[in-house]
Amino acid sequence: MLKASMILDRDYAIGQVDPRLYGSFIEHLGRAVYGGIYEPTHPTADAEGFRGDVLEMVKALHVPVVRYPGGNFVSGFRWEDSIGPREKRPRRLDLAWFTTETNEVGLHEFCHWAKKAGTEVMYAVNLGTRGPEEARDIVEYANHPAGSALSDLRVKNGEKDPLGIKLWCLGNEMDGPWQIGHKTAYEYGRVANEAAKVMKWVDPSIEVVACGSASHSMPTFGSWEYEMLDECYENVDYVSLHRYYGNPSNDTPDFLARSMDLNDFIHSVVSICDAVGGKKHAKKKLNLSFDEWNVWYHSHEQDKEIWKQDKWNRALPLLEDVYNFEDALLVGSMLITFLNNADRVKIACMAQLVNVIAPIMTRNGGGVWAQTIYYPLMHASTMGRGTALRPVTQSPVYDCSDYEKVPFVETAATIDENGNVTIFATNRNLTEDIVLTADLRAFADLTVKEHIVLHHDDVKAVNTEDKPDTVKPVTVHDGTMDQGKLEIKLPALSWNVIRLTKK
Ligand code: AHR
Repeated sequence: MLKASMILDRDYAIGQVDPRLYGSFIEHLGRAVYGGIYEPTHPTADAEGFRGDVLEMVKALHVPVVRYPGGNFVSGFRWEDSIGPREKRPRRLDLAWFTTETNEVGLHEFCHWAKKAGTEVMYAVNLGTRGPEEARDIVEYANHPAGSALSDLRVKNGEKDPLGIKLWCLGNEMDGPWQIGHKTAYEYGRVANEAAKVMKWVDPSIEVVACGSASHSMPTFGSWEYEMLDECYENVDYVSLHRYYGNPSNDTPDFLARSMDLNDFIHSVVSICDAVGGKKHAKKKLNLSFDEWNVWYHSHEQDKEIWKQDKWNRALPLLEDVYNFEDALLVGSMLITFLNNADRVKIACMAQLVNVIAPIMTRNGGGVWAQTIYYPLMHASTMGRGTALRPVTQSPVYDCSDYEKVPFVETAATIDENGNVTIFATNRNLTEDIVLTADLRAFADLTVKEHIVLHHDDVKAVNTEDKPDTVKPVTVHDGTMDQGKLEIKLPALSWNVIRLTKK
């Protein structure tokens, strides 16, 4: 039997886990909004047209923040289209996704939905086709109490109290040539700086996120971050990172090792932020907002077909990846990586939430079900709160196509305000269980309360509306804790949550 070891101590703290690490994202794309969160004719719809069955599944995830309304969509979006009487709102061609946006759900409706879901809105402004003026306008409309034209318009539109949006994205993936209004790093840095400045003059309590690279593999990665931050460092609070992984060559060991790339990506961006800060003699440190992350590749071919047949229709079923078990394992490893970087990664949004590369799927007029990736996110979000601890883990390793010395076992740990500890662990070994022995001397008063395991013999197993429980976590009773020594089996190919509570 393979063995791994771990040492955990309450003094090895990485930092406080910002609850926003478990955020998500809803874009006006595909069936995320129309047919996802909103379907007025659905049997579970409430008076505002929001699907009750979807709301329940979102609530169970305890998502603290949801990024909205894009994504690529936002770079051609006029926010004013989404307010006022619905019947007067325009239908517009959305050049990001080649669909028609009807604006039935807009700013007010989304904020109402967020309230019902128990989450905050992270609002992205358009810095593609628009600029600082429109960005400050929407902050004034949303957050200024009253007494100005725009805040009074909000009141007239039915919202006496400010919407109170505290977190704002300064555009989306502005380094990407596919983006409407794509910019150079210098052009973007200037616009982001001026937008951030005036948005904060309107409401000094807000925080803003500058666009980092659309991924680690962009040719401009690194220089983009450096050059744009050189222009806007003083006025922004976070830098965004986006990353999607796929397994098109069906190489599971390589695919599961992608969290190594994620970790490198985070460390590179932290270094660049600190380099710019150092050059500027800045006291302030920038943190990271990993505001798009997930697995995304299953639906690429299907989407090409949809566009061939049905361009410009409303709510096309785009980006509907059906996630399998190995995707859930990588998602688990990505969450572990975020926790192990909790000192600098303060916000992370799984992209996205419903139907579009999402943990939650619906059928129009039909059911709702959890995809495989729902479970690691739910576990981390509900049990990975408090302070992240630095586990010192030794694991047997493997080599694969793109990486060397990949540890089979990856771990993260948190301690909550009551002193209870949760360990998250993945075993990436395809065939062998691994026994994890953990030296938990500082936690001798704790015992194993629960060991939750997500495993399936078939890495390609999926959940569907008819068979929603094919891949589902189970609780096993196998760990022992004796005088601060934990011994527990991590099954081959598994995501594990080990909860240690007071005896
Ligand atoms: O989440 C889907 C898309 O991926 C977003 O619109 C864009 O920002 C990214 O490229």
